[in-house]
Amino acid sequence: MEDAKKLEEFQAKIDAEIKIEPKDWMPEEYRQHLVRQMSQHAHSEVIGMQPEGNWITRAPSLRSKKILMAKAQDEGGHGLYLYCATETLGVSRDQLLNWLHEGKAKYASVFNYPCLNWADVGAIGWLVDGAAIVNQVSLQRTSYGPYSRAMVRICKEESFHQRQGYEIMASMMNGTADQQKMAQEAIERWWWPSLMMFGPHDGDSPRTSNAMKWKIKRETNDDLRQQFIDKTIPQAELIGLKVPDDNYELLENGSYKTSDIDWDEFWNVIKGNGPCNVKRLKHHKKAHDEGRWVREAAIAYNKKKEQKLQTA
Ligand code: 3HC
Repeated sequence: MEDAKKLEEFQAKIDAEIKIEPKDWMPEEYRQHLVRQMSQHAHSEVIGMQPEGNWITRAPSLRSKKILMAKAQDEGGHGLYLYCATETLGVSRDQLLNWLHEGKAKYASVFNYPCLNWADVGAIGWLVDGAAIVNQVSLQRTSYGPYSRAMVRICKEESFHQRQGYEIMASMMNGTADQQKMAQEAIERWWWPSLMMFGPHDGDSPRTSNAMKWKIKRETNDDLRQQFIDKTIPQAELIGLKVPDDNYELLENGSYKTSDIDWDEFWNVIKGNGPCNVKRLKHHKKAHDEGRWVREAAIAYNKKKEQKLQTA
């Protein structure tokens, strides 16, 4: 059957809300789009462990240490689900990681900012995971089966991440003047990079049209960003935090109008000039190299197990 007919059938399945599965025919462009987005999503989950991971040994209590350990562990698992889902598109894990290490693949720019103190741990959970939830809840309805199922699993854990971050911010705002100052400075550091997580404006996003046509995305970058803003500003005001935007205002429709993002900063960080870009990738490469023996041992063990099964 020539590709035109296949393409027609493919789009009809998308329009009929039928999930596309690994063994189904799909246009190469759809596959490539998914490999890029899903692998960058996976890279973001794993690299996102770094800023918070540095604070596990310095958590202010055993309870907060346990919570942060659980969160960091969850993120590693999210990366695993997403790498496994991406591999169903015919790209190996090694290849995905090589592209990351060679700078050919990205991860969320928000992780190129430093986590300076415990209030930042709270702001990351509340704002960064809060933004990720808005995006990921929508992605549960993505047209590619393995990605959609990974999202359903991830969203169950992500809301805990957001709540624990907000709890840290709320308790600091209930604390001493110094703690309140730390929390306010943290929202000022993390507010705009969190808004940037949703990507460029729809009109500037080279991929949004295909992403919506193929229902890889169910809502656009700007729609998702607005949902996050409308949800988060009342949360900030409830605990006495001031959103670092002198021009925001509540509109009659219940939405907030805010100042525009500094897109020069966005693209500058994406191009590799953020405060932590070099550090994040260097750490990832070092951890990957140090983990080689674990991967080799696991492969050797599985080979031995298979040989035993074959000779049994
Ligand atoms: N950080 C880094 N790069 C970004 C970016 C961001 N926030 N937003 C856009 N870009 C890059 C894109 O990758 C693309 O570069 P490329 O062509 O080299 O791939 C370029 O900027 C143009 O952007 P587009 O608008 O074309 O990209 P998209 O339409 O795909 O939008 C996206 C980018 C919003 C990140 C989208 O890919 C997406 O929704 N991805 C799935 C969600 C995701 O990746 N979330 C990561 C959040 S972190 C996380 O979940 C960890 C949790 O624990 C907090």
